[in-house]
Amino acid sequence: MKYLAVLGRQPEISIAELEAQDFPLDINRLGGTLKLAEKLSEKPIDYLQKLPEGKITIGVSDYSKNASKKTASSEALKLKKILVRHGRSVRVVENKEAVLSTATSLHNGLNGKNAKKLELIKADQDWYKVIGVQDIDAYTKRDQARPARDAKVGMLPPKLAQILINLCGPLKPGAVVLDPFCGTGVVLQEALLMGLAAYGTDINERMVDYSQKNLKWLAPRLNDFRVEVGDATSFKWSKPIGAVACESYLGKPFTKAPSDIELKTQKQECQSIILGFLKNLAGQIKPKTPVVIAIPAWLREDGKYERLDILDYIQDMGYNVNNKSREGLLYHREEQVVARDIIILRKK
Ligand SMILES: C[S@@+](CC[C@H](N)C(=O)[O-])C[C@H]1O[C@@H](n2cnc3c(N)ncnc32)[C@H](O)[C@@H]1O
Repeated sequence: MKYLAVLGRQPEISIAELEAQDFPLDINRLGGTLKLAEKLSEKPIDYLQKLPEGKITIGVSDYSKNASKKTASSEALKLKKILVRHGRSVRVVENKEAVLSTATSLHNGLNGKNAKKLELIKADQDWYKVIGVQDIDAYTKRDQARPARDAKVGMLPPKLAQILINLCGPLKPGAVVLDPFCGTGVVLQEALLMGLAAYGTDINERMVDYSQKNLKWLAPRLNDFRVEVGDATSFKWSKPIGAVACESYLGKPFTKAPSDIELKTQKQECQSIILGFLKNLAGQIKPKTPVVIAIPAWLREDGKYERLDILDYIQDMGYNVNNKSREGLLYHREEQVVARDIIILRKK
């Protein structure tokens, strides 16, 4: 079976083709995937004609090279015309662009749960049917309804927390995910929701309290977690540790690009905490343990992001660095000054 994962939004759409059998095809835990689709083995019209009786709702997203709102609408209307000719009742979800936004798909029920409400994806010659759409409403709720929030520590979006955990690779159910900079507990909450055990530490007692409150609110029945006060550069964590996923200390928040002096100070401060933490951790985890960290990168006045140049030090501490080129792993909104630079490590 061939699957398609839509990873980006217009105008930069990127589509990943997945063939892996053991890939967790659950849109609710993928974090970075907007839509998940399954390749059709027949023409879309043949597939549609076999649907059970009753009204059909279809939406078409055209991800082909020269796609436009017009090409997508015309494909949808062509399908509708044939179906109507065969006596079917059809509603077409209107295209505002070549592809339907996640919100449009979701709010029209085109999320793969109802066989007669479906989004079809055209990608050049191939057609797919959507089997899952990112539940943006659920992410927003998890993010914004939490009882203990603190804008100063930065709000890690739940989907980014899922991405960090997923980048650890396959983890056994109940494996312990450690976040040594747990803050308000977003990584911990997502780990629990993914069937993992959560272990958080933070230097700030208030944060530990916030994490505890948030986890109890999120899932009163999921109590496979533990949160403690601890300095990540010296703390001795309890074993076992299955994986480490975290957003490190990101330094000061900025609303505009920092001056050269400020940038230098921030880089030094963050680098010293991150390297201190990794050095402390290295002696406490088993070989092959995955360690995925989002570290800061800063927007400079020239519009480029300044990253921490620490991979060589990290290697010398006994870690393999998986994505040395660090391509595609800088996570930020447009113009956001402090971006998250994701590094993927594995204890040697
Ligand atoms: C960017 S925040 C992480 C936010 C977190 N991902 C969340 O979900 O809220 C960084 C956290 O690191 C903590 N921190 C800073 N220095 C630390 C250290 N040396 N050891 C442990 N925690 C530290 C801060 O108290 C803060 O909560």
